[in-house]
Amino acid sequence: MAGLDALDPVAERMKADLTELATIRAPDSGGWTRTVFSEPYRSSRDWVRARMRNAGLDVHTDGAGNVIGVLAGRDPSAPALMTGSHTDTVESGGRFDGVVGVIGALEVVRLLRENDLRLERDLLVVDFLGEETNDFGLSCLGSRALAGGLTRDHFDRIDLEGVQLGRRYAEFGLDPSAVLAAADSFAPNGLFRYVELHIEQGPVLEEHGTAIGVVTAIAGIRRLVANFVGRADHAGTTPMTVRRDALVAAAAAVLAVRQEGCGAPVHGVATSSRLDAEPGSPNVVPARVRLFAEMRSIDVGWLSDAQRRLAEQIAERAGEFGVDADLSWSVDNDCVPAHADVQQTVASVADALGMSWEAIPSGATHDAVHIARLCPMGMIFVPSREGRSHCPEEWTDLDDITAGVRVHAGTLVALDRSA
Ligand code: HGY
Ligand code: MN
Ligand code: MN
Repeated sequence: MAGLDALDPVAERMKADLTELATIRAPDSGGWTRTVFSEPYRSSRDWVRARMRNAGLDVHTDGAGNVIGVLAGRDPSAPALMTGSHTDTVESGGRFDGVVGVIGALEVVRLLRENDLRLERDLLVVDFLGEETNDFGLSCLGSRALAGGLTRDHFDRIDLEGVQLGRRYAEFGLDPSAVLAAADSFAPNGLFRYVELHIEQGPVLEEHGTAIGVVTAIAGIRRLVANFVGRADHAGTTPMTVRRDALVAAAAAVLAVRQEGCGAPVHGVATSSRLDAEPGSPNVVPARVRLFAEMRSIDVGWLSDAQRRLAEQIAERAGEFGVDADLSWSVDNDCVPAHADVQQTVASVADALGMSWEAIPSGATHDAVHIARLCPMGMIFVPSREGRSHCPEEWTDLDDITAGVRVHAGTLVALDRSA
């Protein structure tokens, strides 16, 4: 593929960007914390806008809070190419999740401009707002809005402090009506292809010694909020046989969640992430408990069956303890396949560059899952050390990032030259 060798990422530039962005985080939060709508996150987006401009992009922030940089192509009427990722983090997360895709995209833009390689199509580089699942139980706020998947009902969801999502948007300076309208004015000539570079966040590539992951599909996610209602009683005087202990019923549910995940025949996982017990006094039998859990799989059939089985098990166990269980499920995103021709392009570029690659499903969700509603999408993975992510230990070697950016650049050029 002509010209690929010229697109030689400058590792030190990317290292400087990674290091600088990593300084913008909530103080004393353990790892890296830039959660959506937070002040560190607001500052980090100013940094991203400045770096996009510095790379030569024409930058704006859309009504949904997505930071969008445009590299004009020769044919402004052609459907655009798009790439990007996110720079928000989970609480006490890492420095590479999402960031590698945004900083890698900046390096691609610099390489294209430094090598006078003018694309036919506009290239949109996007830092999507709020990719991480938030306290509203909703991931990918920015890309979901662009794909028309965010609705006015979502604004009524409340977080753990009882604040509505619509209010959080407004406090962040975003008008909820403009958030919903962002999809209307986005990419007026449509999108041709979307490619996202991301860390794997799992152990497979490192275990296999593979440089590049060609993502085949992104797992579907079902979210559960279960409310258990028992009866408050004196912890010292109430016989064990008459208690209606909401926390015991919730604990049985936590084990049932794990059991479902361990039984998955293909890729399937299940996680309980939070238990809130009331009144929470050490000498009172818990009366009410709220459990947050999720299940994921690339096997839609398993996901639906597992949800049904789990609902039955939770109800049955709660009944044994005389506790009422109210379950509310939501679909955070459906399982979405990556487009065959984008997968093929990524693999061909990796081959042309002499890099090892393997096809791999994504257990993590990504903005690509929503952008897939707008155009064919694909993702490029690079290895995560010991498969760790969403924790301060998250790490990807600069050499691996550089290899990923080389494939990222080559893939965008190849797609631009394709039909
Ligand atoms: O939750 C996820 O899979 C992603 O890291 N936001
Ligand atoms: Mn991510
Ligand atoms: Mn993440």
